[in-house]
Amino acid sequence: MKENILVTGAANGIGAAIAELAITRGHRVLLTDVDEQAVRTRARSLGDRATGHVLDIRDPAAWDKAFDVAEAEFGGVDVLVNNAGIIHTGHAKDLSPQQHRDIVEVNLLGAITGTCTAIERMTAQGYGHIVTVCSMTAFLPLPGYATYSGTKHGLRAFHHSVAIEERDGPLDFTIIHPPTTRTGMLDQEMADPACAIAFAEKSYAPERIAVTVIDAVATKPVEVVFPPLGGRFQRIGGVFPRLMRWVIPLAEAQGLRRRAQLVAARSK
Ligand SMILES: NC(=O)c1ccc[n+]([C@@H]2O[C@H](COP(=O)([O-])OP(=O)(O)OC[C@H]3O[C@@H](n4cnc5c(N)ncnc54)[C@H](O)[C@@H]3O)[C@@H](O)[C@H]2O)c1
Repeated sequence: MKENILVTGAANGIGAAIAELAITRGHRVLLTDVDEQAVRTRARSLGDRATGHVLDIRDPAAWDKAFDVAEAEFGGVDVLVNNAGIIHTGHAKDLSPQQHRDIVEVNLLGAITGTCTAIERMTAQGYGHIVTVCSMTAFLPLPGYATYSGTKHGLRAFHHSVAIEERDGPLDFTIIHPPTTRTGMLDQEMADPACAIAFAEKSYAPERIAVTVIDAVATKPVEVVFPPLGGRFQRIGGVFPRLMRWVIPLAEAQGLRRRAQLVAARSK
């Protein structure tokens, strides 16, 4: 089925890859981003089934406007992909209060506002699918990711709570947890050894994550961890704090070694 999809944070990274694949598969996409110029340029590059529109997900009025634009352009939103997110790198004690606040306002409150707007609009139209792009840090609290991981734990709890609240309504809910993905966010992490644990395991191309997201638009799974097997182990590991205190520093040491190799390879 061809859907009308609203993607947040679609100017770059995973969101841009989701938008591009959705267009390739015949869907119509409203690409939105806080960076208006970048999102309009990205949308223009994808042809006439793509439209670009500014949306700062922290702003409730901007969410209403984005749904109005989608209604005017496409007749409504069938699928919301809550993708936009940010990180400020560093250990918690080194981030400013404003940086902690920024991460919470975008990753958690922004996605909450979007989900609530979508529930109202989609319930009124009688159908809809809310897809949340979360993170494997929703299961594993990681050094260098304290507040980021906190927002992703919170986002997962919010998403599933709402899905249960809305169980008798017409909407579907999916949450997807990408692992380390090669985007601008990972470049930010590369620049700061505090985030070395991101390099402990294999990273994925944003196009690979996009396949999982766009497949989920059709199949509507409740939750997807990534990679399928390793992700299940990580999810279980997050339940045992003593195990985490032992294993995560080992993974961080591995990440520091791999990061050093990557930095050396880049400087050649
Ligand atoms: N890259 C990774 O390793 C990774 C891993 C797991 C989960 N994720 C999650 O995937 C999502 C996309 O991340 P990415 O790696 O593509 O990041 P990215 O930095 O490459 O792109 C994020 C996009 O979001 C936009 N954005 C930032 N603040 C916004 C706001 N207030 N309103 C609207 N748009 C805003 C940015 O302008 C940018 O275009 C995020 O939720 C991130 O937490 C990323």
